[in-house]
Amino acid sequence: MQKHWWHKATIYQIYPKSFMDANGDGIGDLKGITSKLDYLQKLGITAIWLSPVYQSPMDDNGYDISDYEAIADIFGNMEDMDELLVEANNRGIKIIMDLVVNHTSDEHAWFIEARDHPDSLKRDYYIWRNQPNDLLSVFGGSAWQYDEKSGQYYLHFFSKKQPDLNWENAALRQKIYDMMNFWIAKGIGGFRMDVIDMIGKIPDQKISGNGPKLHDYIKEMNQATFGQHDLLTVGETWGATPEIAKRYSNPEGQELSMVFQFEHIGLQHKPDTPKWDYEKELDVPALKKIFEKWQTDLELTQGWNSLFWDNHDLPRVLSIWGNTGIYRQKSSKALAILLHLMRGTPYIYQGEEIGMTNYPFASLEEINDIESLNYAQEALGKGKTKEQIMNSIRMIGRDNARTPMQWNDTDQAGFSAAKSTWLPVNPNYKDINAAAALADPDSIFYTYQKLVQLRKGEDWLIDADFELLETPDKVFAYKRSLAAESYLIAVNLSDEEQSVELTDSYKDTIISNTDEDQALTSHKLQPWDAFCVRLG
Ligand code: GLC
Ligand code: CA
Repeated sequence: MQKHWWHKATIYQIYPKSFMDANGDGIGDLKGITSKLDYLQKLGITAIWLSPVYQSPMDDNGYDISDYEAIADIFGNMEDMDELLVEANNRGIKIIMDLVVNHTSDEHAWFIEARDHPDSLKRDYYIWRNQPNDLLSVFGGSAWQYDEKSGQYYLHFFSKKQPDLNWENAALRQKIYDMMNFWIAKGIGGFRMDVIDMIGKIPDQKISGNGPKLHDYIKEMNQATFGQHDLLTVGETWGATPEIAKRYSNPEGQELSMVFQFEHIGLQHKPDTPKWDYEKELDVPALKKIFEKWQTDLELTQGWNSLFWDNHDLPRVLSIWGNTGIYRQKSSKALAILLHLMRGTPYIYQGEEIGMTNYPFASLEEINDIESLNYAQEALGKGKTKEQIMNSIRMIGRDNARTPMQWNDTDQAGFSAAKSTWLPVNPNYKDINAAAALADPDSIFYTYQKLVQLRKGEDWLIDADFELLETPDKVFAYKRSLAAESYLIAVNLSDEEQSVELTDSYKDTIISNTDEDQALTSHKLQPWDAFCVRLG
């Protein structure tokens, strides 16, 4: 199998509104990101996945794009973007752009022309019907919006300001490929593809994800754009199974490097219920089964995994499955060690490397996220109490990941010189911040730094087989083996001591958040113990 740079890469996701505000308006920006590249270089990451910075009315914080080849004013301008690319490349850091091509903003020139001139060629770039069917928007309500002028409805699987593009239209597809090539020519490291599994939709048959032409489109895109370059491409695919992931990421298939699968994230809510019916108690045996399946089914010759706990749409993993109390540091390291030593490309979401937590949102006034706000409105209508609604949003709402990055213990956590920021800074910033983490050699930051280094240096992380070990429920232990070498990874995912016999002898320790020798000889894992040892 041909090895690519991204097999040894760790990717760091930046949510631009919340990373660093350089001009003091309370909103993060490109110059802010550039000013923090030394920090990221210290962490050691290979590439940044930059959530959208394009021109946008910000109905969905940039996932509603009105010009793919311009930068949103709040973030700066194209010069700032070019500067970020140069400065990042100088530090050996690549920039992966967010590619949002399932839909545009309703303020994109294509949509304005399509809506105002129903006879124009652009009309067919979008999806219009005389009658809506009962398809629903991911953000609540009908997926169809009535347009007065033409008397037709247009499709929007997300907000009504995010009209869906019609991928059946070959001219539109070409426009998208041209736009992608514009970015490739700038020297970017790849694309993260927003809800890419939806581009093959057939609304009349109520098919949204995994439509019949999806993989044809991706192959065509590969040929027309990144296929000639060594770029990382990762698709956001909520419904992916290992079989589906193989279609995308098979090295022979000429589609993508990898996809994000969300099966483990599904454990954050009760089976077959909306995410708002959250399930805080982690079902560890179920988690083990899911990872075992993905690690073994997606063999090296057949595909490649991505590995993540957090992103800008999810709660902080520490707050839902970790321990934000006395075991905050230890549980955060445990979750990191568990994930990063599996096979795949790991992703770190900003703040995860210092153990940031969910925000204690008290009322809807503090909420910005369109999905949470729409949910609250719908749920109120269905008779849920405000308290029930706030409980859900506080645990699972997307704003939890989006509060400003905590840099130090000064006002606004050093994120901004403004009096107030677009989302409030988490009040725990005095304790939890990057400056404190950097100053403490035993901090979460250095565990992540070590994991990133291991990923670059240890070839077995790519090649070795995965074997789940039989252990008590709350212990997640696996073995990675390659020829004569093997490694044991053991993690106690609980606040209680666990008895388990793992091995009598080992050669050396690869990484640990505890006294692994004591744990192995006493056959007892203390709360949130986690380590990796080389066996033999
Ligand atoms: C993806 C993004 C999310 C966005 C949605 C619509 O799921 O990650 O933030 O709201 O697509 O673009
Ligand atoms: Ca700013």
